[in-house]
Amino acid sequence: MKRTRIVDLLKSVDYGQEVLVKGWVRTRRNSKSVGFIALNDGSTIKNIQIVADMEKFSDDLMKKITTGACLSVTGTMVQSIGSGQAVEVQADKIEVLGTCDDDYPMQKKGQSFEYMRQNAHMRLRTNTFGAVMRIRHNMSIAIHKFFHDHGFYYFHTPIITASDCEGAGNMFQVTTLDLAKVAKDGEVDYSQDFFGKHVNLTVSGQLEGELGATALGAIYTFGPTFRAENSNTPRHLSEFWMIEPEVCFIDLPELMDLEEKFIKYCVQWALDNCSDDLEFLNNMIDKGLIERLKGIVNTEFVRLSYTEGIEILQKAIRGGRKFDFPCNWGDDLSSEHERYLVEEYFKKPVIMTHYPKAIKAFYMKIDEQNPVYDGKEMDQTVQGTDMLFPQIGEIIGGSVREENYDKLVNEIEERNIPMKDLWWYLDTRRFGSCPHAGFGLGFERLILFITGLQNIRDVIPFPRTPRNVEF
Ligand code: 4AD
Ligand code: MG
Repeated sequence: MKRTRIVDLLKSVDYGQEVLVKGWVRTRRNSKSVGFIALNDGSTIKNIQIVADMEKFSDDLMKKITTGACLSVTGTMVQSIGSGQAVEVQADKIEVLGTCDDDYPMQKKGQSFEYMRQNAHMRLRTNTFGAVMRIRHNMSIAIHKFFHDHGFYYFHTPIITASDCEGAGNMFQVTTLDLAKVAKDGEVDYSQDFFGKHVNLTVSGQLEGELGATALGAIYTFGPTFRAENSNTPRHLSEFWMIEPEVCFIDLPELMDLEEKFIKYCVQWALDNCSDDLEFLNNMIDKGLIERLKGIVNTEFVRLSYTEGIEILQKAIRGGRKFDFPCNWGDDLSSEHERYLVEEYFKKPVIMTHYPKAIKAFYMKIDEQNPVYDGKEMDQTVQGTDMLFPQIGEIIGGSVREENYDKLVNEIEERNIPMKDLWWYLDTRRFGSCPHAGFGLGFERLILFITGLQNIRDVIPFPRTPRNVEF
């Protein structure tokens, strides 16, 4: 007989039908004459209840049916009289495919997230992590569908690269050199390294993505990125997934429209396709989750310049609001400032633009006019956008790109970025340069928002953070 997945079984009301189900025991309880086994196969958050008549099965077999054990059950679908779901399976035959030792780490319910992280190899079997992983899958599909439907091509950028897109120097080096020997010699000869030069794991696929966009019109990347920042926060990973669309012939307002439309599409997709998992998370983790998701879809995001943002923050400070970090014009906003704007002042997502160029990357297009703040003309600003979300802070970073060759070279020189490493990028500005723009969405930050979880380590199967790689 063919196995039926529990998600499909629960949809059917074919009472009397014989079925085969396989999965892992979530719980087991007994009455005098029957055993009730909640079985889960990962296809849904929901379990199927297996009813086992004690007389039919040996004590020896029943002893092996403990939390975590893997079973194959053949039985008859019957109407469930207990609360919960409509159907259950009256077992005719139970086979234990895998017994579960009694030190199974996921035996007890209600363990802390920290405990789960320490048992990351088994936490995927829990309800919470099952829900998060199914949502991750669904959001990946949503992202591909959105871009495919809007005429973007999925473009694969390299993981090993010789360039540093963000210019922040937070890169993991890739080498096959014998480091012990290098240490002894006291000198590194990169010409002897595998690629004959100094290379890294990518921090962003954007620069190569621009090569794709200026050939195909509109592309998006969706791949792993790596950052060797020593940021031990609930929002940072050393290895995370990023989605980076890049589009020709759009300006700043069109870029912001795309960002807003895209993120709302993703949230709506979760509401439409992940309702069981969201309901579970709403009940168990965050009672305001579904309301918050619905709110996002129905809200028009605020669009605000950095200078206006600073004005609002300064006014709050004058009114007695205290922040840990300063926020004078020119400072990078810290997450307390971003969260003040989003959660307290506007109470909705904010797309902030026109940042001082000194705090943004070299490729962002410079504004024609300098802003005036406090009656004074300030430094140049750029057409960069950060989308700030409640509970998350920055979820998207993007910009219009500087397409003018001379202006771009000027920025690269001013920032002492080695020009020779970027010749191929600069060529896009020499051979048919065009206006274009793009952004990067941190996939795990999106999943944090959609699931209502608090720590980014809990929305990726195998988190990598400073001093933390178990397997
Ligand atoms: O703002 P970032 O650094 O922008 C870029 O990398 C651009 N090249 C994107 C582009 O224009 N194509 O990163 C983009 C997003 C952030 O807004 C954040 O959501 C996420 O990536 N992100 C991280 N997520 C988890 N852990 C980290 N360490 C992250 N750093 C950035
Ligand atoms: Mg950023």
